[in-house]
Amino acid sequence: MFEGRAIKLKINEVGPRDGLQNEAAFVETDDKVRLVDHLSGLGYSKIEVTSFTSPTAIPALRDAEAVMHRIRREPGVVYTALIPNVRGGERALECRVDEFNLVMSASETHNLANLRMTRPQSLRQLGDVAAVALSAKVPVNISLSCVFGCPMEGEVPQATVLDLVGQFVGLGATGVTLCDTTGMAYPTQVHGICESVAKAYPQLNITGHFHNTRGMGLVNTLAAVEAGIRQFDMSLGGIGGCPYAPGASGNVATEDVVHMLQWMGYDTGVDVPGLIQAAHELERLIGHELPAQVSRAGERLKRHEPPAGFDEIRERAIARNTASAK
Ligand code: COA
Ligand code: ZN
Repeated sequence: MFEGRAIKLKINEVGPRDGLQNEAAFVETDDKVRLVDHLSGLGYSKIEVTSFTSPTAIPALRDAEAVMHRIRREPGVVYTALIPNVRGGERALECRVDEFNLVMSASETHNLANLRMTRPQSLRQLGDVAAVALSAKVPVNISLSCVFGCPMEGEVPQATVLDLVGQFVGLGATGVTLCDTTGMAYPTQVHGICESVAKAYPQLNITGHFHNTRGMGLVNTLAAVEAGIRQFDMSLGGIGGCPYAPGASGNVATEDVVHMLQWMGYDTGVDVPGLIQAAHELERLIGHELPAQVSRAGERLKRHEPPAGFDEIRERAIARNTASAK
C-alpha cells in the first residue's frame, strides 16, 4: 500500500483560475502574468491560466485575453482555460489556449446556480463548444463539479456521474476532471468513484480535483492515487472556492500535496522550495494569509535553532547528572 516509487504523477496548477476567481480584490494583469510565468518554471504539467466567462459573472478574471496573450509559454506545459460557452470558446481560440476546460455540474441545482442552465441544456452547449475546439484541433477536458456531493442537494448518485462522463466521451472529450467542489468527498468514496470511472472509460485521462473545505484534501488525493488516478488539480497556497457553491473554500494546496507525495517517493516533477517561495509571493500579492500549511511551517526537515540559553540548559543538565551520580 502507498508504494510511491517510480510512479509519475502529473500536477496541474489551478490557482490563477479556481483561486483568483474568488478573490475580492482585483489582481492586476501584470501581477497575474508574473505569477503564471513564475509557475511555468516549477515543473507543472498544466496551468489553468484564466477563464473566458462573462466579465460581469466573474469580474476577477475580466482580463483573460490580456493574460493569455502575455504569458510566457514554457515548452511541455499545457496552458488551459475554463470555457463556459461558445462565446468563451471563440475568445479562447483567438488567444491560442492549448486546451479547453469545459464545465458542468453533476448536480442539477448547482448547475443552475453556476451556469444558469439545466443539465440537458448544458450538455447541448458542451457539444457546441467541444465542436468549436475540435474543429480547431484543440483537445477538450470537461470538469464535472459536485461529483462527490452537492452543497444544496446532498449525495449525488454514482450512476449520474458515470452517465455524464459517458456523454462527455461521446462529445469527443479526451479528459474528465472529477471535482469535489465543496470538499464533501471522503477517501473510501473517492476510491470507489475513481475506480468505477477509470474502469468504465479506460481511454480517458482522469484528473482528481479536491477542495480542502473539511481538511480531507490530502487523504482524498492519496485515495485517488491508490485507485490509479495519475493527474491532479491543486492551487498554490490553497486559495480558491466556487462563487456559486455555498461554503466552498480553497483547493487542496499544491505545496502541501507535492511535499507529501515527494516524501512518499512519487515523482511529481514539481519543486517544493520553489512552490514555497511562490506561495509567499502570492500571499503578498493577494494581501491575506493563505490556508496552506507547508509554506508556513517549511519542509519537514527544516532545521530550527535551539531555544535561547540552550548552552546553559545543557550544562546545567550535565551538572545535575554528575552531582546525582556522586
Ligand atoms: N464571454 C464574455 N461575455 C459573455 C460570455 C463570455 N463567455 N458569455 C456571456 N457573456 C455576456 C453576454 O454577452 C451578456 O452580456 P450583456 O449583459 O452585456 O449583454 C452577459 O454575459 C449575460 O449573457 P447570457 O448569455 O444571458 O448568459 P448568462 O447570464 O446566462 O450567464 C454564463 C452564463 C455561463 C456566461 C455565466 O453564468 C458565467 O460566466 N458564469 C460563471 C461560471 C464560472 O466560471 N463559474 C466558476 C467556475 S466553476
Ligand atoms: Zn474547484
